[in-house]
Amino acid sequence: MKIFIDSANLEEIEKAYSSGILDGITTNPSLIKKAMEGKSNIDMENHIKRILQVAKGTRVSLEVTEFTYDKMVEQGRKLFKMFNPVAKNVYIKIPANPSFEGEKNREFEGLRAIKTLSGEGIPINCTLIFTPEQALLAAKAGAKIVSPFAGRVDDYIRTLSNISFNKSDYFTAEGRDSLNDNGIVSGIDLVRQIVDIFKRYNIKAEVLAASIRNARQAREAALAGADIVTLPFDVIKELMSHYKTKEGMKSFTDDAIPEYIELTKN
Ligand code: E4P
Repeated sequence: MKIFIDSANLEEIEKAYSSGILDGITTNPSLIKKAMEGKSNIDMENHIKRILQVAKGTRVSLEVTEFTYDKMVEQGRKLFKMFNPVAKNVYIKIPANPSFEGEKNREFEGLRAIKTLSGEGIPINCTLIFTPEQALLAAKAGAKIVSPFAGRVDDYIRTLSNISFNKSDYFTAEGRDSLNDNGIVSGIDLVRQIVDIFKRYNIKAEVLAASIRNARQAREAALAGADIVTLPFDVIKELMSHYKTKEGMKSFTDDAIPEYIELTKN
């Protein structure tokens, strides 16, 4: 499984890359805002170029902020043209279905933008995926990566309550009593379902488990068969941390006899 860092903070990115474990970076406008907090005279272009250079040889996703077909395509092209020459590692993030609540006839804007940009050779990471169906359609439209948001699915399911039941409602094959989860019982379950569907139909797009909140969830994403997991800096650190490792190291260093230490002294 490939590991990406979910960050736009150059210091974090450089530190994590120095460990040799990283295979790429995902950014989004919120992460960029967080990375720029407290900074004045922001040189955005230079900041992104430096990120791309650190990540040379691995992939970096940059996200559009527009949500209509024409504007997403225009912005995607511009971002790719401006930044891909730096290290030839840019992916453009397009949302699965960017239309806002109440908007009509915009359901296909994301898929159309994915199709157009992919057709021009611009690799697409389809973001904000919350169902296996969105992932399937994004891959069919040409996305090279699909990003289910595991943590946000968990948040969403946890806010659902007061289960109601109408005669016409679909009753799940598993016979669960909760119908409000849309048949996706957790964020990692969403990742697993997408992986299973892609395997079954030999779909080549990679599944990137996004919105990961802790080390255990990262492990579960790996067990679910995610091709890539993207992790905030603190979760990467958590992956390496165990009390018994620290305790063991302390007792080994305490036990080391001088004759052993001397072996490697000048
Ligand atoms: C990555 O591509 C996503 O933008 C990111 O993982 C979202 O994470 P969040 O739900 O913690 O904001």
